[in-house]
Amino acid sequence: MSFLLDKKLEHEKQCEAAIRDSNTANAIFHAAKAAEFAYALAAQTAGHIATRYTEDAEGWLEIAEKLKRQPLKGGQGGTSGGKPGAEPADSPSSADADWLVTEIPSVTFDMIAGMTEAKKTIFEMVVYPLQNIEKAKKLGLKAGGGVLLYGPPGNGKTTLGKAIAHELQAPFYYASGAQIRSKWHGESEQRLRSLIQTAKSQPVAVLFLDDVDGLLPKRSGQSVVDNRIVVQFLSDVGGFEESQNVLLILGATNKPWDIDEAVFRTGRFDEKIFIGLPDEPARRGILQMHLKGLPLQEGFDTAAWVGKLNGYTGSDIVGVVNAAKRAALGRSIRDNADPLLTMGDLESAFRNIPSSCTDKLLQQYETFRQLRFG
Ligand SMILES: Nc1ncnc2c1ncn2[C@@H]1O[C@H](COP(=O)(O)OP(=O)(O)OP(=O)(O)O)[C@@H](O)[C@H]1O
Ligand SMILES: [Mg+2]
Repeated sequence: MSFLLDKKLEHEKQCEAAIRDSNTANAIFHAAKAAEFAYALAAQTAGHIATRYTEDAEGWLEIAEKLKRQPLKGGQGGTSGGKPGAEPADSPSSADADWLVTEIPSVTFDMIAGMTEAKKTIFEMVVYPLQNIEKAKKLGLKAGGGVLLYGPPGNGKTTLGKAIAHELQAPFYYASGAQIRSKWHGESEQRLRSLIQTAKSQPVAVLFLDDVDGLLPKRSGQSVVDNRIVVQFLSDVGGFEESQNVLLILGATNKPWDIDEAVFRTGRFDEKIFIGLPDEPARRGILQMHLKGLPLQEGFDTAAWVGKLNGYTGSDIVGVVNAAKRAALGRSIRDNADPLLTMGDLESAFRNIPSSCTDKLLQQYETFRQLRFG
């Protein structure tokens, strides 16, 4: 019994290693062996445990089948030729309940201040090919696929994702990495499949995978089985290349260096875009958006704050303004006077709220970019 279990675990580990090395043939071999030992364990056990082993065996066989249909990208030893993604279509209706699935978001690009470069890149990489699918095809450009947005927290990655979906007039499906991991257990596995099917059934859809690092963290303490499930998830979201429907997968992360190679290997994230701290026009825009229509002290110098808030993240800037507003409200209540936002309110808020992003962190992104993407 423990011999069978040991063998099963050994093949699971080897399968995972082969997947990491993009060695399709070895991955298929070890997945099939893991299934064989799982079946043997099912035969020696009874009841609930036997059922679990049988399910596990089926899971491994499914992986082997999938690897046959879709050999690992950039790898060796694949048995290509089959068409990917011949999944039975689940009923999409059960999917939505547990997931934050929205209609077309109302956020527009106008609501994102500055970031001219990032917006330009996004239009060229994502929006134009999807709005002009036929033209893009003639030029050999792929519409859809995966784009990874990475950068320090609070600088508009999620907001950008929503604006993209708005621009494309596409439904926006949201799931976080950790959420996917936990949802994959038991019945929820089916739900997640349904979510993917629902997204794929739309002519154009955006699937936003937040915290991709939580999906498959490097050297994770998670079990091999968990990792297999995540790799399987990533290959599930794939397989849309040959269909008429277009699915754009937008991944977002603050910790791209924590993402396991396996995520990149699935070929889901062909493009990577760094979303850094707001530049000068962005800081001005954010300030203007949040100060608009407020009772400002005479001579309130917004321009001075554009410079002073250099090094602050977008959400830090919003935080400073909100703290200043609260101080102004408190004063107006105490003095029984009309509220007035002063430079002093902003100054105290600014002194109390340091930037949440350090130079060291920014350097880490730069080092990652150089090492990973050259
Ligand atoms: N360029 C910007 N223009 C307007 N608002 C911005 C901008 N950048 C950030 N913000 C503000 O900061 C808030 C946080 O942005 P968002 O949630 O999109 O960041 P994020 O990069 O996804 O953060 P996290 O990595 O923590 O998920 C937004 O709600 C918005 O108010
Ligand atoms: Mg976000």
